[in-house]
Amino acid sequence: MAKKLKHNIELTVYSSLDDLPSKDKELVLRAKEVSKKAYAPYSQFYVGAAIRLDSDEIVEGSNQENMAYPSGMCAERVAIYYANSHHSDQKIESIAVTAFAKRFDVTHPVSPCGACRQSMAEYELKQNQPIRLLMTGESGEVYIAESIETVLPFMFNEIELKNE
Ligand code: THU
Repeated sequence: MAKKLKHNIELTVYSSLDDLPSKDKELVLRAKEVSKKAYAPYSQFYVGAAIRLDSDEIVEGSNQENMAYPSGMCAERVAIYYANSHHSDQKIESIAVTAFAKRFDVTHPVSPCGACRQSMAEYELKQNQPIRLLMTGESGEVYIAESIETVLPFMFNEIELKNE
């Protein structure tokens, strides 16, 4: 079901994880699994991101915090930088993001922060093919955006910086 949220972003909304197509469900389950490996002693908010490459291989990342707070890194960027470090020849098909917390239940889809959106958008431009974004919580609805551009319209985009 396609639905426009109050932010006017076009998303497909599934009422639960079990309603997802099997490959998407598998990707979310991998993100859930890797969220258990997050290093998040400060926020106690454990995020997992799983990326499906064109080859169907899945790579993952989790958030890594630091006592110097800004030195930490979000799960999405850990995953996407890993993907581009090891598989730069492959396009990214989808990225699933999820989280659980120690002090409360995450009952809504986790929405990537602005810096992660900008980072993901860079690779979407680089590969000239949309990256699907799957957002889930511990329970509740699942949101799917068909591209990163959908969740980051009017991004910073100075391709001249490439100096080509
Ligand atoms: N975090 C992510 O991993 N992804 C996001 O998109 C937003 C936030 C992490 C950063 C920090 O370790 C914790 O969640 C709380 O902000």
